[in-house]
Amino acid sequence: MITIKNVSTISGEVITHTIKSEDDITIDGSGLTLFPGLIDPHVHFRTPGQEYKEDWRTAALATVKGGYTTVFDMPNNIPPCISDTRLKDKKALIDKQLSEAGIPLRYELYIGADKNHFEEIPKVAGDIVGIKVFMGSSTGELLMDDENSLRAMFQIAAMLDLVVGLHAEDECMIQENNKKYAGRSDHLVHASIRSPEVAASAVKLVIDLVRQYGTKAYILHVSSSNELDLIRAAKEEGLPVFAETSPHHMFMNVHDLEKMGGLAQMNPALRAPEHQEAIFAAIKDGTIDTLGSDHAPHTIEEKNKPYPESPSGVPGIETNLPLLLNAYNQGKLSLDEILDLTHANPRKIFEIRENDDVVLVDLNKKKTVKNEDQATKCGWSPFDGWELTGWPVCTILKGKIFNFR
Ligand code: DOR
Ligand code: ZN
Repeated sequence: MITIKNVSTISGEVITHTIKSEDDITIDGSGLTLFPGLIDPHVHFRTPGQEYKEDWRTAALATVKGGYTTVFDMPNNIPPCISDTRLKDKKALIDKQLSEAGIPLRYELYIGADKNHFEEIPKVAGDIVGIKVFMGSSTGELLMDDENSLRAMFQIAAMLDLVVGLHAEDECMIQENNKKYAGRSDHLVHASIRSPEVAASAVKLVIDLVRQYGTKAYILHVSSSNELDLIRAAKEEGLPVFAETSPHHMFMNVHDLEKMGGLAQMNPALRAPEHQEAIFAAIKDGTIDTLGSDHAPHTIEEKNKPYPESPSGVPGIETNLPLLLNAYNQGKLSLDEILDLTHANPRKIFEIRENDDVVLVDLNKKKTVKNEDQATKCGWSPFDGWELTGWPVCTILKGKIFNFR
């Protein structure tokens, strides 16, 4: 049995917490706060095909270091994960890497929506957490930008009671903007090409399809007030629409893109500061359900290329929780809101079974994010140099203790 003594609950009560284990270990929890193991519903751990950016050995360490014990991995691999066979192959590779790392990470996989592989969806229905649809092009080859295919996908998902996870950006508008801004090679143009209107146009179509087919739609990395207004109205209408936001959209804005160039380039792009305010308000009023890191590592050499060769995506799973706890210390979020975003809501939406994983956090620990401290293989963070107050110090996953004090 693992016994954690004198630990605070989120509501401030001091308790003794026990976890079943073959070992008999007592942990002094004085001054620490107990959270359940967190769920990151949106990561790109790059296996198979891009293990030079990340693999599940390095990513698993980054995950437990960040206070997370469950992740949902995206299918934009090389080759893309779009069939039963590829899903099985991917799972075998992940299990091998996790066993080499000695980290029994809990994970779920998305399958990629592909218009030539609809017949694969029923085959994998019991083995996936959802279907990922790229309505706009992003990293990798996956794209479903025609309305007929989208209709078919929403119908199949509704029939099989599967969640559709949507990268909601309007591909047609992206292409038009690419033409409009052709010749610009500064990274700031990325925010104009992938504007809030581009995202909102796709979200509008998603909501129309949900209204028609009753599909459970989970809109990934919501980044703008434009999308939030539509999602809020859809929820009021009683539609099964859920929203995830990302740490970079909460804590960074278009000025960071201007300063940092490729290092702050991701899809959807960073927005003007007023969108950050809208995100915080939407967390408070329940329009935003979850936070996904969208951990999308690329090497620093790739990120420093001129636009548009620089790839979109930033790592994030190690800094999610410290950023949220820092926002708590600034009075911007409550611990209950953090728990909802990172555990309770993803568990409800995706029907994830309860487990006894926990993370102990030190709400007062001050530490500066440093590239050289990152466990992710890409070895950098967009938050390098940020001093944050509130850090995870110990994660217990399947009875295994990972100490970071
Ligand atoms: O910025 C992004 N990076 N957005 C995505 O949709 C994909 C991701 C990646 O895999 O690099
Ligand atoms: Zn993503």
